[in-house]
Amino acid sequence: MSLVNRIQETLTLLQRAARDFQPLVMASSLGAEDMVLIDLIFKHDLPVDIFTLDTGRLPESTQRLMARVQEVYGKPIRVVFPESAAVEALVMRNGINGFYHSIEARLACCAVRKVAPLKRALAGQKAWLTGLRRDQSPTRATLASEAWDADYGLTKFSPLAEWTRADVWSYLKVQQVPYNPLHDQGFASIGCSPCTRALQPGEDERAGRWWWEHPETKECGLHLSAQPERSIA
Ligand code: ADX
Ligand code: SF4
Repeated sequence: MSLVNRIQETLTLLQRAARDFQPLVMASSLGAEDMVLIDLIFKHDLPVDIFTLDTGRLPESTQRLMARVQEVYGKPIRVVFPESAAVEALVMRNGINGFYHSIEARLACCAVRKVAPLKRALAGQKAWLTGLRRDQSPTRATLASEAWDADYGLTKFSPLAEWTRADVWSYLKVQQVPYNPLHDQGFASIGCSPCTRALQPGEDERAGRWWWEHPETKECGLHLSAQPERSIA
């Protein structure tokens, strides 16, 4: 499918979601994929509450990009923070960088800094949008563009499910969308600073996330059911 058709199909999906699934939110890490969706949502003035989970460990460049988005589009992205008491207890228990010590400790950190705030942000919503793509990793290979998300009890849209990485970058360049400069330094996927690194030549897209773990475990809990999801599309 050509990129023009892909964009049109994605826009149609976004418009339908915005019409039929209110209240509708988008979880945005401000990664390349999310910038495509932010651009489409803001340019077409779609009623979507876009939020980002600020874990307290994001790279400075991600926060700069949040400010830049506000400048370019004149619209804010809502920032959702973790509960301070939960972060303090986690750090007391596991150490400030405890996530390097075991998968359990890593998941505990993601649970406090990302998953609990996500649950709070999704409570009471009819549907949420994500920038997930199928070809990002083995855990996302069967992703549907629209599915019932049993973990959080609402519909989950991934409008870029069928987009390739090349599609994303063509869109960003042609539309002159702002993006995180870390992408130009070899970062394919950008999360928390201590858990994200640039790719080496030939590595797959998710190799820079939690690189000390096996590919099958490399989800943070935001998308646990990135394992087979039943399509309702
Ligand atoms: S993660 O699960 O490994 O962290 P990834 O960085 O690939 O996720 O992003 C996939 C999608 O998850 C993004 O397109 C976005 O919808 C959501 N997401 C990831 N991180 C965040 C964040 N910090 N805030 C909001 N949404 C996020
Ligand atoms: Fe913690 Fe790393 Fe997960 Fe961020 S990605 S929440 S620092 S374990």
